[in-house]
Amino acid sequence: MPHKLALIGFGTVAQGLVEILLRKEQELRDRHGMEFVVVAITDPIKGSLYDPSGLDLSAVMNSLESSGSLGQYPKSQDTTTGWDSFLTIDQCGADTVIEATYTNVVDGQPGLDHCRAALRSGKNVVTTNKGPIALAFDELQSLAARHGARILFEGTVMSGTPVLRLAATTLVGNEIRKVRGILNGTSNFILSKMDEGMAFDDALGEAQRLGYAEADPTADVDGYDAQYKLQILAHAVFGTRIAREEIARTGIRQITPQQIAQAKTEGRRYKLIAQLENTASGMRGSVAPEALAMDDPLSAIHGAMNAISFDCDLSGDVTVVGPGAGRLETGYALLVDCMNLVRHNV
Ligand SMILES: NC(=O)c1ccc[n+]([C@@H]2O[C@H](COP(=O)([O-])OP(=O)(O)OC[C@H]3O[C@@H](n4cnc5c(N)ncnc54)[C@H](OP(=O)(O)O)[C@@H]3O)[C@@H](O)[C@H]2O)c1
Repeated sequence: MPHKLALIGFGTVAQGLVEILLRKEQELRDRHGMEFVVVAITDPIKGSLYDPSGLDLSAVMNSLESSGSLGQYPKSQDTTTGWDSFLTIDQCGADTVIEATYTNVVDGQPGLDHCRAALRSGKNVVTTNKGPIALAFDELQSLAARHGARILFEGTVMSGTPVLRLAATTLVGNEIRKVRGILNGTSNFILSKMDEGMAFDDALGEAQRLGYAEADPTADVDGYDAQYKLQILAHAVFGTRIAREEIARTGIRQITPQQIAQAKTEGRRYKLIAQLENTASGMRGSVAPEALAMDDPLSAIHGAMNAISFDCDLSGDVTVVGPGAGRLETGYALLVDCMNLVRHNV
């Protein structure tokens, strides 16, 4: 039986997933015995499509390329158009809803209500959207349990670099005492440029020109993005919660070229370090720039790359390095969660 997917939001990441499904269809079937069909897609501007027997994904991408929307998709008598996100979730009959709308960390919307609606109707949720997970993890997990569904969110912390599942499965049996990472590619890019001699404003301008930084870079350079990711890690790695206000936060705006130069003379390099520690008195979290010694594995992470180190009681310090964003990388995070749902794994 094919596993039916509904895509809520059809931007960069959801399109990345469709591209992967097209590219890997045969390999998924032949090597893994898995078949995924996309029965519905909904997006406010690009439009919506539903076909209970599965959409033709090549035709979906052709329509998008030729018109920027789903309007050129060749419809059959089984194709329905015009459904918004909630009608789609309600009517699509999918096994899994892919929630890939924009991140809103103020109230999590519209993603949070999409997740709630999907789980309440017994559908699994796979998402790369940080908002709902950082803000309402406990509620969503209990909704999932109550309705016999699951919610997976590997891509919310480091895109397709599999840090959540690594901690949950591969490192199992360890006590993870501390997690320390570079979780924001934009700020790491800026610090890398500053290390090469650029001033903060010029480095930010270059990050914006290259599409790494948004017009409003606050979430990245002031440490909010890393703060939300630590909240997700608290749930996923330590099985506990930490409020955002409990995570001390300092961004990178105040770092001067003089500080960078001084650190260099001491054989150190500035990085924005996000850290969570499981202490006897509870979770302690912080996001702050640190001048790291060169033998610290995180000091060698350049450009927009991300990295995370797990301090484990048995296997020692385990560090994973990889992209923290990207169309195919984050599309892959959605795929790997879907594959694990089908395998009834984690
Ligand atoms: N891009 C990455 O590398 C990356 C990495 C990790 C995590 N993420 C997360 O993954 C999610 C998707 O990212 P993205 O880069 O694909 O963003 P995106 O390109 O902005 O796509 C989001 C899509 O959701 C649509 N949307 C907005 N409101 C909607 C609604 N009510 N119902 C249905 N669709 C709606 C948007 O449509 P309109 O444009 O018409 O408003 C847009 O097409 C975000 O939460 C992001 O933070 C992204």
